[in-house]
Amino acid sequence: MDLKDKNVIYSGGFGGIGLAGVREFLKSGAKYVTILDLNENKEVMLELKTSHPGAKIDYIPVDLTKKESITAAFKSAVEKMGHFDVLVNGCGICMDSEVDLTIQINLLGLIHSTLTALPYMDKSSGGRGGTILNISSVSGLEITPLFAIYAASKHGVTAFTRCMGDQIYFDRFGVRFLAICPGLTKTNLIKDNYLSTTFKFCQEIGKRYRHAIVQSAEECAKNMIKVIETGKNGGVYLLDLGNMDEIPYKRQWVVTYETH
Ligand SMILES: NC(=O)c1ccc[n+]([C@@H]2O[C@H](COP(=O)([O-])OP(=O)(O)OC[C@H]3O[C@@H](n4cnc5c(N)ncnc54)[C@H](O)[C@@H]3O)[C@@H](O)[C@H]2O)c1
Repeated sequence: MDLKDKNVIYSGGFGGIGLAGVREFLKSGAKYVTILDLNENKEVMLELKTSHPGAKIDYIPVDLTKKESITAAFKSAVEKMGHFDVLVNGCGICMDSEVDLTIQINLLGLIHSTLTALPYMDKSSGGRGGTILNISSVSGLEITPLFAIYAASKHGVTAFTRCMGDQIYFDRFGVRFLAICPGLTKTNLIKDNYLSTTFKFCQEIGKRYRHAIVQSAEECAKNMIKVIETGKNGGVYLLDLGNMDEIPYKRQWVVTYETH
């Protein structure tokens, strides 16, 4: 997909990866970018509008833990934008002591956003189709035992994306689904993340993450744009240390049907 003149909704656009992502969308020629996030960052909004006078940039509040907030945010976005071509589901927390909240934001919030966005994009009922990119994680590919709840939420995101990327859905909705799985990326989410382990006794072991090599949010965002430009429907992409690699899917099971 060529991003020139496209309308983009970026959920989580004031976060570390989010803001870098919004900047890359604007650099790639997006015409209209609406940021959905919990709180407005007025300074950032002003800076974005000043540096991209040719683009339209809006903010709409959303709280992903509340379904009615998600519904209202998309309704308001479509009233302002007319339509959108790309949705990035990019909110997330890593806070394993908060089990319900982690699943609510990382998985349920992302699922509800997707299901709310789809009818607006649905080609079978007059929409234009488009692309939904979900931000999973390396914890949605590998097991990361110190962060078991976060990993469970992110495996959910990867599985949901692969399911929604099935041809049966593409044929109806005309919407391409992609997931990116960033490795450790320098944002607030990983600052002191040893405090976010599933069990307190693992905090000491978690301190080893302080010595991990991490990528920048900008490196991650540049590759996110490449995934949107070139990714195939249902594709899952590892974005780590400035690299981008597609993660092939290997079937372990198929249904066995009765034969008559
Ligand atoms: N930083 C990393 O190492 C890393 C690695 C893999 C995946 N990720 C994923 O990337 C995405 C972005 O993370 P980040 O590192 O930029 O973190 P971040 O903390 O900088 O950004 C998270 C964003 O989510 C928003 N958010 C949190 N709760 C919300 C709620 N209830 N409703 C609406 N918005 C809410 C925050 O306001 C913020 O803008 C997340 O899905 C995260 O899990 C991050």
